[in-house]
Amino acid sequence: MSPEAELIGRLERHGQGHLLRWWGELDDAGRARLAAEVAAIDLDQLDRLVAELVQADGTPAPPDDRVRPIDGVRLPQTDGERVAIRRAAGVGADAIAAGEVGVILVAGGSGTRLGFEGPKGTFPIGPVSSATLFQIHAEKIMALSRRHRRTIPLSIMTSPENHQATVDFLQANGRFGLDHVRLFVQGQMPAVDRATGKVLLASKDRVALSPDGHGGTLVALAAPGPGGTPSCLEEMREMGVRTLFYFQVDNPMVQIADPAFLGLHREAAAEMSFKVIERTSPGEKLGVVVRVDGRPQVIEYSDLPEQLAGRREPEGRLELWAGSIAVHILERTFIERLTGDLDHRLPFHRAIKKVPYVDESGKLVKPEEPNAVKFEQFIFDALPMAERWSVVETDRAAEFEPLKNAVGPDSPATVHQRMSDQFASWLEQAGARVPRRSDGSVPFGIEISPLYALDAAELKAKIEPGLVVDRAVYFR
Ligand code: UD1
Repeated sequence: MSPEAELIGRLERHGQGHLLRWWGELDDAGRARLAAEVAAIDLDQLDRLVAELVQADGTPAPPDDRVRPIDGVRLPQTDGERVAIRRAAGVGADAIAAGEVGVILVAGGSGTRLGFEGPKGTFPIGPVSSATLFQIHAEKIMALSRRHRRTIPLSIMTSPENHQATVDFLQANGRFGLDHVRLFVQGQMPAVDRATGKVLLASKDRVALSPDGHGGTLVALAAPGPGGTPSCLEEMREMGVRTLFYFQVDNPMVQIADPAFLGLHREAAAEMSFKVIERTSPGEKLGVVVRVDGRPQVIEYSDLPEQLAGRREPEGRLELWAGSIAVHILERTFIERLTGDLDHRLPFHRAIKKVPYVDESGKLVKPEEPNAVKFEQFIFDALPMAERWSVVETDRAAEFEPLKNAVGPDSPATVHQRMSDQFASWLEQAGARVPRRSDGSVPFGIEISPLYALDAAELKAKIEPGLVVDRAVYFR
């Protein structure tokens, strides 16, 4: 059988024969491209996903009475608790100084809600400096690495859509001076028509593909590098890196490789840890860490039934308190276990989206309404597979203001304000005076480069008490 006939037969058996509708019109390059994209699709898996997530509604949320709040290390209230956190910070600092900690930054998303063309990491977000998200993250890693006199390797996950732009940006900026930066590319999944489950064509010779979700991080870390070079995981093993701090590109306030979090993770001998904040309203767009029949699990906000989202303690606080800020620690050996074993594959979720496609007449259609299902894995689904875990609460004002939207909540305006407020509070702790509006916010931009001071304590050593800050300022 010719390779072409084999391809046709295979697609027809899975009801996807339409993908070759334009084959006769394609030149050799187009045929080769389409054949390669089709060959990369796991059609058996796709059949299962269509049956579970397109023709059916996926796994229903667990019944309310099986869902319980998770236990976690709450914000310290007593001196004893503060001492315990300081002790944990010592454990984490030792791990960094021993070269056992690496950092994973996931930056493969398309940033559609922000309406920004380039990779989100290249968005200028510094309230005074307009430093990009990538620069702010890189400076934190550099500062931490200097403090502990140890290289902290950074691995950045991109997607095929934004990989080259990310490579070019980092190169143009000299990788912000970091010693060890490795980019790795996540996988893709085909988008299917929401009514029929048929794979969509982005053009006559291209399948509509999209990133496979940040759950794809695990498999991508284990995949061989370019030209059969060692995978990221193998390289980390060779370097002696045991513990990986994971975060999303969109939150410039994240405390990268926070020693206290690392230490609490190690003290619990955890395989995976979550940083969380207390949820304040039922509708907050945060994944919620809970226990279901005793096992820890995250229920994504879009899957959380209203009744559960709003369940309250007798004194009024939300019972399912732990909102995930998507900051994790994973042991390298845990990822090796999950990626080495088919039984430990992460499940797929569906996202119903607008995806442009070529219709039966060969015309490119830009749909007005969501027409397609995309399939994505979420990294937090690894939690139930961890033998030991820890959940650590952090202060929202100090660590969480993600950039998601162009305007309104989680937008450049809210991020600028929150960063300036946070830096003002560091300055005040160092003895400076900063005017505040009646609601406590600062009326101008304040920014402190991580290379100037990584935290309030470091700033204190550099600032003259009594300093008055009364206009926009960038300490660097
Ligand atoms: C996400 C979390 C949510 C959490 C919130 C905190 C998911 C599904 N939900 O919501 O539980 O409370 O953040 O801010 O993640 N990414 C990739 N590749 C992909 C998809 C995403 O690298 O294929 C990266 C993006 O670049 C981004 C991050 O993952 O850094 C988050 O993705 P996004 O889709 O924006 O998640 P949220 O809905 O904001």
